[in-house]
Amino acid sequence: MGLSRSFVVVFSFLVLAPLCLSHNGSTGGYLYPQFYERSCPRAKEIVKALVAKAVAKEARMAASLLRLHFHDCFVKGCDASVLLDSGSGIRSEKLSNPNRNSIRGFEVIDEIKAALEKECPQTVSCADILALAARDSTVLAGGPSWEVPLGRRDARDASLSGSNNNIPAPNNTLPTIITKFKLQGLNHVDLVALSGSHTIGMSRCTSFRQRLYNQTGNGLPDGTLDLSYAAQLRKRCPRSGGDNNLFPLDPPSPTSFDNCYFRDLLASRGLLSSDQVLLTRSAATMELVHLYAEHNRLFLEQFARSMVKMGNISPLTGHRGEIRKNCRRMNSY
Ligand code: HEM
Ligand SMILES: *[C@@H]1O[C@H](CO)[C@@H](O)[C@H](O)[C@H]1NC(C)=O
Ligand SMILES: *[C@@H]1O[C@H](CO)[C@@H](O)[C@H](O)[C@H]1NC(C)=O
Ligand SMILES: *[C@@H]1O[C@H](CO)[C@@H](O)[C@H](O)[C@H]1NC(C)=O
Repeated sequence: MGLSRSFVVVFSFLVLAPLCLSHNGSTGGYLYPQFYERSCPRAKEIVKALVAKAVAKEARMAASLLRLHFHDCFVKGCDASVLLDSGSGIRSEKLSNPNRNSIRGFEVIDEIKAALEKECPQTVSCADILALAARDSTVLAGGPSWEVPLGRRDARDASLSGSNNNIPAPNNTLPTIITKFKLQGLNHVDLVALSGSHTIGMSRCTSFRQRLYNQTGNGLPDGTLDLSYAAQLRKRCPRSGGDNNLFPLDPPSPTSFDNCYFRDLLASRGLLSSDQVLLTRSAATMELVHLYAEHNRLFLEQFARSMVKMGNISPLTGHRGEIRKNCRRMNSY
């Protein structure tokens, strides 16, 4: 008994200690909020001010910046790969199915990067700008705040196939979506909380048209979609044409970050199929939808935790990657 216990203690020390110590420098994914405290003390306030300016100009920009961080992190980790333009060996992730004609906010990131290069040249990564902008956008929309762990570096490559394959599609089944989150180290709690991002922002007709006309290939609309809501959507989302017509993901409050999204789902008024399937009967996600619909505070707290978790997906640290001067391209090829 005593022997086996001390064996466990010694064993776990031997195994765990080197792992813990290596959580720094070039090998570990060690991020922390004070990363720029000495090298660029005003970095956070500069990001915040420019995000505030952009959101004051257009409220939807908060949603667009939040989504940019998500689409960055799900492809090779949070490394600003999503920001790279095509050229010099790069096939931009901006061309992928989830991003094409859809993802936006790049000019705001450019403006923030330019201001930071003036303040402290080649110090603050584009990947960290995305993480900070996502937090500031959430706060500006009325959502929760959190300390953003920092110290990510920028990738020297992009993955168009990763963007197509890793980011869930709006017509994916719930098991597929759960698997895609699991591959990123995120569980079903993270999935439900982070899907709550759809409390703000817009979707194009093309992202949910299938639900209105021919959901399963039998010529019928999605039976889990409220009939009058479906009829209303069809007016501006016809069988063909109008692909880019925009619709709020959360019609009751499209620019405020709250749990209305979960109430929409309970009323069969989730806009995307990927939203409504969270309420699949007897799935583990169902009771969380009910919980967050009822308790705004629990949703906001979990959202903040899950955002930190998402922001920690495979960062480049230490000497890996680089600090780009321009978020759209590598420093040298
Ligand atoms: C669970 C799987 C998810 C799917 C299938 C999905 C899919 C989509 C789709 C299809 C759109 C509309 C795009 C368009 O038509 O142009 C959208 C918008 C949006 N998504 Fe997601 N999403 C998911 C999860 C997330 C997560 C985890 C976040 C953030 C953490 C997020 C944040 C947003 C935001 C804020 C918008 C609105 C963007 C804007 O107005 O510019 N989504 N999403
Ligand atoms: C981790 O790295 C930072 C920055 O290089 C250094 O200041 C700190 O002392 C390191 N911590 C440990 C535990 O090695
Ligand atoms: C999902 O949508 C894509 C793009 O519109 C389409 O090609 C695909 O067939 C759809 N998948 C299912 C299972 O309906
Ligand atoms: C619905 O989709 C199926 C399979 O994609 C197709 O064969 C069928 O013609 C479509 N029906 C209608 C009414 O559009």
